[in-house]
Amino acid sequence: MKRLLNKDLIQRVGEEVLVKGWVNSRRDHGKIVFIDLRDRSGLVQVVFVPGSKAYEKVSEVRPEWVLEIIGKVNKRPEKMINKDLVSGTVELEAIDIEILNIAKTPPFEIDKDTQLVDEELRLKYRYLDLRSTRMNNNITLRHNVIKFAREYLWQRDFREIETPYLTKSTPEGAREFIVPSRIYPGEFYVLPQSPQQFKQLLMVGGLERYFQVARCFRDEDQRGDRQPEFTQLDIEMSFIEQEDIFDLIEPMMIEMVEKLVPGAKITAKPFPRITYAESMEKYGTDKPDLRKNKDNRKEFAFVWVVDCPMFKYSASEKKLVSTHHLFTSPNPKDVKLLDSNPEECRALAYDLALNGFEIFGGSIRIHNRELQNKIFDLLQIPKEEAKRRFGHMLEAFEYGAPPHGGIAGGIDRIVAILCGEAAIREAMAFPKTGDARDPLMGAPSAITEGQLKDVHIQLAKEASGKVLKGKQTETND
Ligand code: AMO
Repeated sequence: MKRLLNKDLIQRVGEEVLVKGWVNSRRDHGKIVFIDLRDRSGLVQVVFVPGSKAYEKVSEVRPEWVLEIIGKVNKRPEKMINKDLVSGTVELEAIDIEILNIAKTPPFEIDKDTQLVDEELRLKYRYLDLRSTRMNNNITLRHNVIKFAREYLWQRDFREIETPYLTKSTPEGAREFIVPSRIYPGEFYVLPQSPQQFKQLLMVGGLERYFQVARCFRDEDQRGDRQPEFTQLDIEMSFIEQEDIFDLIEPMMIEMVEKLVPGAKITAKPFPRITYAESMEKYGTDKPDLRKNKDNRKEFAFVWVVDCPMFKYSASEKKLVSTHHLFTSPNPKDVKLLDSNPEECRALAYDLALNGFEIFGGSIRIHNRELQNKIFDLLQIPKEEAKRRFGHMLEAFEYGAPPHGGIAGGIDRIVAILCGEAAIREAMAFPKTGDARDPLMGAPSAITEGQLKDVHIQLAKEASGKVLKGKQTETND
Protein backbone atom coordinates (compact mmCIF):
# COMPACT_ATOMS: atom_id res chain seq x y z
CA MET A 1 0.00 0.00 0.00
CA LYS A 2 1.33 3.46 -0.87
CA ARG A 3 1.86 5.87 2.01
CA LEU A 4 -0.51 8.84 2.14
CA LEU A 5 0.09 12.16 3.88
CA ASN A 6 -2.23 13.19 6.69
CA LYS A 7 -3.50 16.19 4.73
CA ASP A 8 -4.76 13.92 1.93
CA LEU A 9 -6.93 11.72 4.13
CA ILE A 10 -9.96 14.01 3.86
CA GLN A 11 -10.45 12.75 0.30
CA ARG A 12 -10.31 9.09 1.34
CA VAL A 13 -13.38 8.68 3.56
CA GLY A 14 -14.32 5.01 3.86
CA GLU A 15 -10.99 3.76 2.47
CA GLU A 16 -8.24 1.72 4.08
CA VAL A 17 -4.99 3.73 4.02
CA LEU A 18 -1.37 3.63 5.14
CA VAL A 19 0.17 6.61 7.02
CA LYS A 20 3.58 7.09 8.64
CA GLY A 21 4.86 9.60 11.16
CA TRP A 22 5.62 10.52 14.77
CA VAL A 23 3.37 10.28 17.82
CA ASN A 24 2.62 13.91 18.63
CA SER A 25 0.52 13.07 21.68
CA ARG A 26 -1.35 10.19 23.24
CA ARG A 27 -4.59 10.30 25.25
CA ASP A 28 -6.28 7.35 26.97
CA HIS A 29 -10.04 7.70 27.41
CA GLY A 30 -11.24 4.66 29.35
CA LYS A 31 -10.57 1.75 27.04
CA ILE A 32 -10.13 3.88 23.93
CA VAL A 33 -6.70 5.29 22.99
CA PHE A 34 -6.23 8.40 20.84
CA ILE A 35 -2.96 9.26 19.12
CA ASP A 36 -2.25 12.39 17.14
CA LEU A 37 0.13 11.27 14.42
CA ARG A 38 2.37 13.95 12.92
CA ASP A 39 3.89 13.97 9.47
CA ARG A 40 5.29 16.81 7.38
CA SER A 41 1.80 17.85 6.32
CA GLY A 42 0.28 18.09 9.81
CA LEU A 43 -1.64 15.94 12.29
CA VAL A 44 -4.31 13.25 12.09
CA GLN A 45 -6.21 11.82 15.04
CA VAL A 46 -5.95 8.02 15.17
CA VAL A 47 -8.41 6.01 17.28
CA PHE A 48 -7.53 2.63 18.75
CA VAL A 49 -10.51 0.53 19.84
CA PRO A 50 -10.29 -2.73 21.79
CA GLY A 51 -10.35 -5.85 19.66
CA SER A 52 -8.12 -4.67 16.80
CA LYS A 53 -4.57 -5.87 16.15
CA ALA A 54 -3.48 -2.26 16.44
CA TYR A 55 -4.98 -1.94 19.92
CA GLU A 56 -2.86 -4.79 21.26
CA LYS A 57 0.33 -3.06 20.15
CA VAL A 58 -0.53 0.51 21.12
CA SER A 59 -0.25 0.13 24.88
CA GLU A 60 3.54 0.60 24.90
CA VAL A 61 3.60 3.45 22.36
CA ARG A 62 4.91 6.80 23.66
CA PRO A 63 5.26 10.34 22.27
CA GLU A 64 7.79 10.73 19.41
CA TRP A 65 7.83 7.04 18.56
CA VAL A 66 7.81 6.50 14.80
CA LEU A 67 4.84 4.49 13.52
CA GLU A 68 3.36 3.04 10.40
CA ILE A 69 -0.42 2.75 10.69
CA ILE A 70 -2.98 1.00 8.53
CA GLY A 71 -6.44 2.29 9.26
CA LYS A 72 -9.85 3.20 7.96
CA VAL A 73 -10.71 6.85 7.30
CA ASN A 74 -13.95 7.83 9.04
CA LYS A 75 -15.82 11.10 8.64
CA ARG A 76 -16.09 12.98 11.94
CA PRO A 77 -19.54 13.98 13.15
CA GLU A 78 -20.21 17.71 12.54
CA LYS A 79 -19.62 18.75 16.15
CA MET A 80 -16.31 16.84 16.36
CA ILE A 81 -14.71 18.64 13.38
CA ASN A 82 -11.38 20.23 14.37
CA LYS A 83 -10.63 23.23 12.17
CA ASP A 84 -7.05 23.43 13.49
CA LEU A 85 -6.00 20.12 11.94
CA VAL A 86 -5.24 19.58 8.23
CA SER A 87 -7.26 16.38 8.54
CA GLY A 88 -9.85 17.89 10.89
CA THR A 89 -12.97 16.54 9.11
CA VAL A 90 -11.85 12.93 9.46
CA GLU A 91 -10.15 10.54 11.85
CA LEU A 92 -8.34 7.28 11.32
CA GLU A 93 -9.55 4.08 12.95
CA ALA A 94 -6.39 2.00 13.46
CA ILE A 95 -6.43 -1.56 12.09
CA ASP A 96 -2.77 -2.47 12.47
CA ILE A 97 0.43 -0.65 13.40
CA GLU A 98 4.11 -1.25 13.04
CA ILE A 99 6.61 0.43 15.32
CA LEU A 100 9.39 1.78 13.06
CA ASN A 101 11.40 3.27 15.91
CA ILE A 102 11.16 4.08 19.56
CA ALA A 103 12.23 7.41 21.14
CA LYS A 104 13.58 8.64 24.43
CA THR A 105 11.38 11.13 26.27
CA PRO A 106 12.26 14.49 24.65
CA PRO A 107 13.83 17.15 26.90
CA PHE A 108 10.86 19.45 26.23
CA GLU A 109 7.32 19.06 24.98
CA ILE A 110 7.16 19.18 21.21
CA ASP A 111 3.39 19.19 20.89
CA LYS A 112 3.30 22.62 22.59
CA ASP A 113 4.72 25.95 21.44
CA THR A 114 8.44 25.66 22.28
CA GLN A 115 9.03 29.40 22.50
CA LEU A 116 9.00 29.35 26.29
CA VAL A 117 11.61 26.58 26.47
CA ASP A 118 15.16 27.62 27.38
CA GLU A 119 16.91 28.80 24.21
CA GLU A 120 20.09 26.80 24.85
CA LEU A 121 18.09 23.59 25.25
CA ARG A 122 16.04 24.31 22.14
CA LEU A 123 19.16 24.84 20.05
CA LYS A 124 20.97 21.82 21.50
CA TYR A 125 18.01 19.69 20.41
CA ARG A 126 17.10 21.75 17.37
CA TYR A 127 16.11 18.62 15.45
CA LEU A 128 13.34 18.11 18.03
CA ASP A 129 12.39 21.79 18.10
CA LEU A 130 11.98 21.65 14.31
CA ARG A 131 9.25 19.04 14.78
CA SER A 132 7.04 21.60 16.55
CA THR A 133 4.21 23.04 14.51
CA ARG A 134 5.42 26.63 14.81
CA MET A 135 8.97 25.87 13.67
CA ASN A 136 7.71 23.65 10.87
CA ASN A 137 5.44 26.48 9.65
CA ASN A 138 8.27 29.04 9.86
CA ILE A 139 10.73 26.89 7.92
CA THR A 140 8.05 26.13 5.34
CA LEU A 141 7.29 29.84 4.93
CA ARG A 142 11.02 30.46 4.48
CA HIS A 143 11.08 27.87 1.72
CA ASN A 144 8.10 29.56 0.06
CA VAL A 145 9.69 33.03 0.30
CA ILE A 146 12.88 31.80 -1.39
CA LYS A 147 10.93 29.86 -3.99
CA PHE A 148 8.78 32.89 -4.75
CA ALA A 149 11.78 35.24 -5.08
CA ARG A 150 13.64 32.79 -7.34
CA GLU A 151 10.69 32.33 -9.66
CA TYR A 152 10.02 36.08 -9.75
CA LEU A 153 13.62 36.84 -10.74
CA TRP A 154 14.02 33.91 -13.17
CA GLN A 155 10.92 35.16 -15.00
CA ARG A 156 12.55 38.59 -15.36
CA ASP A 157 15.67 37.28 -17.09
CA PHE A 158 17.96 37.25 -14.05
CA ARG A 159 20.83 34.75 -13.96
CA GLU A 160 21.26 32.91 -10.66
CA ILE A 161 25.02 32.81 -10.10
CA GLU A 162 27.07 31.51 -7.18
CA THR A 163 30.07 33.49 -5.99
CA PRO A 164 32.94 32.23 -3.79
CA TYR A 165 32.82 31.87 -0.02
CA LEU A 166 36.60 31.62 0.27
CA THR A 167 37.69 35.08 -0.75
CA LYS A 168 39.28 38.32 0.35
CA SER A 169 38.05 41.22 2.49
CA THR A 170 34.77 42.82 1.47
CA PRO A 171 33.99 46.44 2.21
CA GLU A 172 30.86 46.17 4.37
CA GLY A 173 32.64 47.32 7.48
CA ALA A 174 31.94 44.50 9.96
CA ARG A 175 34.67 42.34 11.45
CA GLU A 176 35.39 39.33 9.25
CA PHE A 177 35.73 35.59 9.77
CA ILE A 178 39.10 34.44 8.53
CA VAL A 179 40.16 31.03 7.21
CA PRO A 180 43.86 30.14 7.29
CA SER A 181 45.43 28.74 4.14
CA ARG A 182 47.31 25.44 4.42
CA ILE A 183 49.12 25.84 1.12
CA TYR A 184 50.25 29.44 1.62
CA PRO A 185 51.76 29.83 5.10
CA GLY A 186 50.75 33.07 6.76
CA GLU A 187 47.97 33.80 4.29
CA PHE A 188 44.24 33.76 4.87
CA TYR A 189 40.95 33.61 3.08
CA VAL A 190 38.11 35.74 4.37
CA LEU A 191 34.45 34.70 4.38
CA PRO A 192 32.42 37.32 2.50
CA GLN A 193 30.24 39.81 4.38
CA SER A 194 28.24 39.89 1.17
CA PRO A 195 28.92 39.10 -2.49
CA GLN A 196 29.28 42.85 -3.13
CA GLN A 197 32.50 42.86 -5.13
CA PHE A 198 31.70 39.72 -7.10
CA LYS A 199 28.30 40.98 -8.15
CA GLN A 200 29.85 44.18 -9.44
CA LEU A 201 32.48 42.14 -11.29
CA LEU A 202 29.65 40.10 -12.84
CA MET A 203 28.29 43.36 -14.24
CA VAL A 204 31.70 44.12 -15.75
CA GLY A 205 31.48 40.54 -17.02
CA GLY A 206 28.41 41.47 -19.06
CA LEU A 207 25.84 39.33 -17.20
CA GLU A 208 23.61 42.41 -16.69
CA ARG A 209 21.06 40.82 -14.35
CA TYR A 210 22.33 38.70 -11.45
CA PHE A 211 20.83 37.32 -8.30
CA GLN A 212 21.84 34.84 -5.65
CA VAL A 213 20.50 33.40 -2.44
CA ALA A 214 23.81 34.04 -0.73
CA ARG A 215 25.18 33.19 2.69
CA CYS A 216 26.95 36.15 4.31
CA PHE A 217 29.30 36.13 7.29
CA ARG A 218 29.82 38.99 9.75
CA ASP A 219 31.67 38.65 13.02
CA GLU A 220 29.72 41.33 14.85
CA ASP A 221 27.80 41.56 18.09
CA GLN A 222 24.55 39.64 18.01
CA ARG A 223 21.06 41.06 18.40
CA GLY A 224 17.61 39.69 17.80
CA ASP A 225 17.81 40.71 14.16
CA ARG A 226 21.45 39.76 13.55
CA GLN A 227 23.27 36.47 13.16
CA PRO A 228 26.94 35.83 12.36
CA GLU A 229 25.87 33.97 9.23
CA PHE A 230 22.72 34.93 7.46
CA THR A 231 21.20 34.78 4.00
CA GLN A 232 20.73 37.58 1.50
CA LEU A 233 18.65 37.77 -1.60
CA ASP A 234 21.40 39.54 -3.50
CA ILE A 235 20.66 41.41 -6.73
CA GLU A 236 22.65 43.51 -9.23
CA MET A 237 21.62 45.07 -12.55
CA SER A 238 23.36 47.02 -15.32
CA PHE A 239 22.11 50.07 -17.21
CA ILE A 240 19.65 51.02 -14.51
CA GLU A 241 18.76 53.82 -12.15
CA GLN A 242 17.43 53.83 -8.61
CA GLU A 243 13.86 53.82 -9.88
CA ASP A 244 14.42 50.50 -11.70
CA ILE A 245 15.38 48.85 -8.41
CA PHE A 246 12.17 50.11 -6.77
CA ASP A 247 10.15 48.89 -9.78
CA LEU A 248 11.63 45.43 -9.33
CA ILE A 249 11.51 45.02 -5.55
CA GLU A 250 8.21 46.70 -4.70
CA PRO A 251 5.87 44.45 -6.76
CA MET A 252 7.91 41.42 -5.67
CA MET A 253 7.36 42.18 -1.98
CA ILE A 254 3.67 43.04 -2.44
CA GLU A 255 2.97 39.85 -4.35
CA MET A 256 5.08 37.77 -1.95
CA VAL A 257 3.30 39.01 1.15
CA GLU A 258 -0.20 38.81 -0.32
CA LYS A 259 0.38 35.33 -1.71
CA LEU A 260 2.19 33.77 1.22
CA VAL A 261 0.57 35.34 4.30
CA PRO A 262 -3.19 34.71 4.40
CA GLY A 263 -5.05 37.78 5.67
CA ALA A 264 -2.03 40.08 5.19
CA LYS A 265 -2.70 43.80 5.06
CA ILE A 266 -0.11 46.10 3.50
CA THR A 267 -0.43 49.53 5.13
CA ALA A 268 0.30 51.60 2.01
CA LYS A 269 0.68 50.79 -1.68
CA PRO A 270 2.73 52.06 -3.47
CA PHE A 271 5.28 52.08 -0.66
CA PRO A 272 5.83 55.55 0.82
CA ARG A 273 9.25 57.12 0.39
CA ILE A 274 10.99 59.19 2.98
CA THR A 275 14.42 60.76 2.93
CA TYR A 276 16.95 59.69 5.48
CA ALA A 277 17.04 63.21 6.91
CA GLU A 278 13.25 63.37 7.23
CA SER A 279 13.11 59.94 8.84
CA MET A 280 15.74 60.84 11.42
CA GLU A 281 14.03 64.12 12.18
CA LYS A 282 10.48 62.81 12.37
CA TYR A 283 11.00 59.32 13.85
CA GLY A 284 14.54 59.46 15.26
CA THR A 285 15.46 56.32 13.28
CA ASP A 286 16.35 55.37 9.70
CA LYS A 287 13.93 52.43 9.83
CA PRO A 288 10.61 53.83 10.96
CA ASP A 289 7.71 51.58 11.87
CA LEU A 290 4.72 53.00 9.96
CA ARG A 291 2.11 50.40 10.98
CA LYS A 292 -1.28 51.84 11.88
CA ASN A 293 -1.95 49.07 14.39
CA LYS A 294 1.16 47.57 15.92
CA ASP A 295 -0.86 44.78 17.56
CA ASN A 296 -1.98 43.44 14.19
CA ARG A 297 0.44 40.61 13.37
CA LYS A 298 -0.78 40.62 9.78
CA GLU A 299 -0.10 44.31 9.08
CA PHE A 300 2.98 45.07 6.99
CA ALA A 301 4.22 48.64 6.60
CA PHE A 302 6.94 49.02 3.98
CA VAL A 303 8.80 52.29 3.50
CA TRP A 304 11.66 53.27 1.20
CA VAL A 305 14.31 55.35 2.93
CA VAL A 306 16.18 57.32 0.26
CA ASP A 307 18.92 59.93 -0.01
CA CYS A 308 21.07 58.29 2.63
CA PRO A 309 24.23 60.28 3.35
CA MET A 310 27.48 59.20 1.63
CA PHE A 311 29.58 59.52 4.78
CA LYS A 312 29.38 59.78 8.51
CA TYR A 313 32.11 60.94 10.86
CA SER A 314 33.57 58.16 13.00
CA ALA A 315 34.70 59.55 16.33
CA SER A 316 36.73 56.41 17.10
CA GLU A 317 38.56 56.44 13.77
CA LYS A 318 38.60 60.26 13.66
CA LYS A 319 37.70 60.31 9.97
CA LEU A 320 34.84 59.94 7.55
CA VAL A 321 33.55 56.41 6.92
CA SER A 322 31.08 55.20 4.28
CA THR A 323 27.50 55.04 5.46
CA HIS A 324 26.66 52.30 2.96
CA HIS A 325 29.88 51.01 1.39
CA LEU A 326 32.69 52.59 -0.52
CA PHE A 327 31.47 51.65 -4.02
CA THR A 328 28.27 53.67 -3.54
CA SER A 329 27.74 56.52 -5.99
CA PRO A 330 27.14 60.05 -4.75
CA ASN A 331 23.98 61.74 -5.94
CA PRO A 332 25.11 63.59 -9.13
CA LYS A 333 23.40 66.73 -7.78
CA ASP A 334 25.73 66.67 -4.75
CA VAL A 335 29.06 65.77 -6.37
CA LYS A 336 30.24 69.36 -5.90
CA LEU A 337 29.86 68.91 -2.14
CA LEU A 338 32.55 66.22 -2.14
CA ASP A 339 35.14 69.00 -2.21
CA SER A 340 33.47 71.50 0.08
CA ASN A 341 31.25 69.65 2.54
CA PRO A 342 31.32 65.86 2.06
CA GLU A 343 29.16 65.12 5.09
CA GLU A 344 26.27 66.90 3.38
CA CYS A 345 26.65 64.80 0.23
CA ARG A 346 23.76 62.45 -0.40
CA ALA A 347 24.35 58.99 -1.86
CA LEU A 348 22.31 57.10 -4.41
CA ALA A 349 21.66 54.64 -1.62
CA TYR A 350 18.32 53.33 -0.40
CA ASP A 351 16.92 50.98 2.21
CA LEU A 352 13.58 49.27 2.43
CA ALA A 353 12.22 49.11 5.98
CA LEU A 354 9.40 46.84 7.13
CA ASN A 355 7.64 47.26 10.49
CA GLY A 356 10.67 49.02 11.97
CA PHE A 357 13.40 46.73 10.58
CA GLU A 358 15.74 47.29 7.66
CA ILE A 359 15.03 44.43 5.27
CA PHE A 360 16.78 45.59 2.07
CA GLY A 361 19.76 47.87 1.45
CA GLY A 362 21.39 48.88 -1.79
CA SER A 363 22.82 51.57 -4.00
CA ILE A 364 23.80 52.72 -7.45
CA ARG A 365 27.54 52.11 -7.77
CA ILE A 366 30.46 54.13 -8.93
CA HIS A 367 31.69 52.81 -12.27
CA ASN A 368 34.33 55.44 -12.86
CA ARG A 369 37.84 55.04 -11.55
CA GLU A 370 38.52 58.73 -10.97
CA LEU A 371 35.44 59.18 -8.84
CA GLN A 372 36.25 55.96 -6.95
CA ASN A 373 39.75 57.27 -6.20
CA LYS A 374 38.27 60.51 -4.93
CA ILE A 375 36.08 58.56 -2.51
CA PHE A 376 39.10 56.60 -1.28
CA ASP A 377 40.87 59.93 -0.70
CA LEU A 378 37.95 61.30 1.30
CA LEU A 379 37.90 58.12 3.37
CA GLN A 380 41.62 58.61 3.91
CA ILE A 381 42.46 55.23 2.45
CA PRO A 382 46.08 55.57 1.30
CA LYS A 383 46.73 54.79 -2.39
CA GLU A 384 48.84 51.75 -1.52
CA GLU A 385 46.15 50.34 0.75
CA ALA A 386 43.41 51.03 -1.83
CA LYS A 387 45.49 49.20 -4.42
CA ARG A 388 46.15 46.26 -2.13
CA ARG A 389 42.54 45.90 -1.03
CA PHE A 390 40.61 46.94 -4.09
CA GLY A 391 43.14 47.07 -6.97
CA HIS A 392 41.27 44.29 -8.77
CA MET A 393 38.05 46.36 -8.67
CA LEU A 394 39.75 49.52 -9.87
CA GLU A 395 41.37 47.60 -12.68
CA ALA A 396 38.07 46.01 -13.69
CA PHE A 397 36.41 49.44 -13.82
CA GLU A 398 38.94 50.38 -16.53
CA TYR A 399 37.66 47.73 -18.92
CA GLY A 400 34.29 49.20 -19.83
CA ALA A 401 32.28 48.82 -16.61
CA PRO A 402 28.60 49.53 -17.33
CA PRO A 403 26.60 51.84 -15.06
CA HIS A 404 25.14 49.48 -12.48
CA GLY A 405 23.45 49.18 -9.13
CA GLY A 406 21.80 46.69 -6.87
CA ILE A 407 20.25 45.76 -3.60
CA ALA A 408 20.25 42.92 -1.06
CA GLY A 409 17.46 41.72 1.20
CA GLY A 410 17.89 39.90 4.50
CA ILE A 411 15.90 36.71 3.97
CA ASP A 412 16.00 35.74 7.65
CA ARG A 413 14.57 39.11 8.68
CA ILE A 414 11.89 39.07 6.00
CA VAL A 415 10.74 35.58 6.98
CA ALA A 416 10.81 36.38 10.71
CA ILE A 417 8.61 39.45 10.19
CA LEU A 418 6.19 37.59 7.92
CA CYS A 419 5.93 34.85 10.59
CA GLY A 420 5.30 37.48 13.29
CA GLU A 421 8.48 36.44 15.14
CA ALA A 422 10.61 38.87 17.13
CA ALA A 423 13.95 37.08 16.55
CA ILE A 424 15.43 35.92 13.25
CA ARG A 425 16.54 32.70 14.98
CA GLU A 426 12.92 31.58 14.70
CA ALA A 427 13.17 31.76 10.92
CA MET A 428 16.41 29.74 10.58
CA ALA A 429 16.79 25.97 10.78
CA PHE A 430 20.12 25.98 12.65
CA PRO A 431 20.88 29.44 14.08
CA LYS A 432 23.56 30.40 16.58
CA THR A 433 22.87 31.51 20.16
CA GLY A 434 23.00 35.19 21.09
CA ASP A 435 26.70 34.73 21.85
CA ALA A 436 27.47 33.09 18.51
CA ARG A 437 27.64 29.44 19.57
CA ASP A 438 26.01 26.36 18.13
CA PRO A 439 25.11 24.15 21.13
CA LEU A 440 24.03 21.28 18.85
CA MET A 441 27.29 20.83 16.95
CA GLY A 442 29.37 22.28 19.76
CA ALA A 443 30.86 25.03 17.62
CA PRO A 444 33.16 26.83 17.92
CA SER A 445 35.47 24.16 19.31
CA ALA A 446 39.14 23.48 19.91
CA ILE A 447 41.16 21.69 17.22
CA THR A 448 44.19 19.42 17.35
CA GLU A 449 47.85 20.41 17.41
CA GLY A 450 48.19 18.72 14.05
CA GLN A 451 45.40 20.73 12.48
CA LEU A 452 46.96 23.96 13.73
CA LYS A 453 50.35 22.93 12.44
CA ASP A 454 48.82 22.17 9.06
CA VAL A 455 47.72 25.77 8.74
CA HIS A 456 50.90 27.22 10.28
CA ILE A 457 49.19 28.65 13.35
CA GLN A 458 50.51 28.93 16.87
CA LEU A 459 48.06 30.06 19.51
CA ALA A 460 48.59 32.96 21.90
CA LYS A 461 49.44 31.90 25.44
CA GLU A 462 45.99 32.50 26.89
CA ALA A 463 44.35 30.28 24.24
CA SER A 464 46.97 27.56 23.98
CA GLY A 465 45.52 25.47 26.83
CA LYS A 466 42.61 24.57 24.60
CA VAL A 467 44.61 22.82 21.90
CA LEU A 468 43.75 19.13 21.59
CA LYS A 469 46.40 16.45 21.36
CA GLY A 470 46.43 14.79 17.99
CA LYS A 471 47.83 14.53 14.53
CA GLN A 472 47.11 16.27 11.28
CA THR A 473 43.62 16.44 9.86
CA GLU A 474 42.60 13.10 8.41
CA THR A 475 42.29 13.12 4.66
CA ASN A 476 41.17 10.51 2.20
CA ASP A 477 44.11 10.82 -0.15
P1 AMO B 1 23.56 45.50 3.93
O1 AMO B 1 24.78 45.42 4.76
O2 AMO B 1 22.62 46.65 4.15
O3 AMO B 1 23.94 45.61 2.38
O4 AMO B 1 22.77 44.13 4.06
C1 AMO B 1 21.58 43.91 3.34
C2 AMO B 1 20.52 43.29 4.23
O5 AMO B 1 21.03 42.11 4.85
C3 AMO B 1 20.43 41.95 6.14
N1 AMO B 1 21.49 41.83 7.16
C4 AMO B 1 21.49 40.92 8.17
N2 AMO B 1 20.60 39.97 8.49
C5 AMO B 1 20.88 39.17 9.56
N3 AMO B 1 22.00 39.27 10.29
C6 AMO B 1 22.94 40.21 10.01
N4 AMO B 1 24.07 40.28 10.73
C7 AMO B 1 22.69 41.10 8.90
N5 AMO B 1 23.37 42.13 8.33
C8 AMO B 1 22.63 42.55 7.28
C9 AMO B 1 19.56 43.16 6.37
C10 AMO B 1 20.11 44.17 5.38
O6 AMO B 1 19.13 45.09 4.97
N6 AMO B 1 26.23 44.48 -0.22
C11 AMO B 1 25.18 45.32 0.33
C12 AMO B 1 23.94 45.32 -0.52
C13 AMO B 1 24.05 46.15 -1.78
O7 AMO B 1 24.56 47.29 -1.72
O8 AMO B 1 23.56 45.67 -2.82
C14 AMO B 1 24.84 44.81 1.74
O9 AMO B 1 25.24 43.75 2.18
O10 AMO B 1 18.22 42.84 6.07
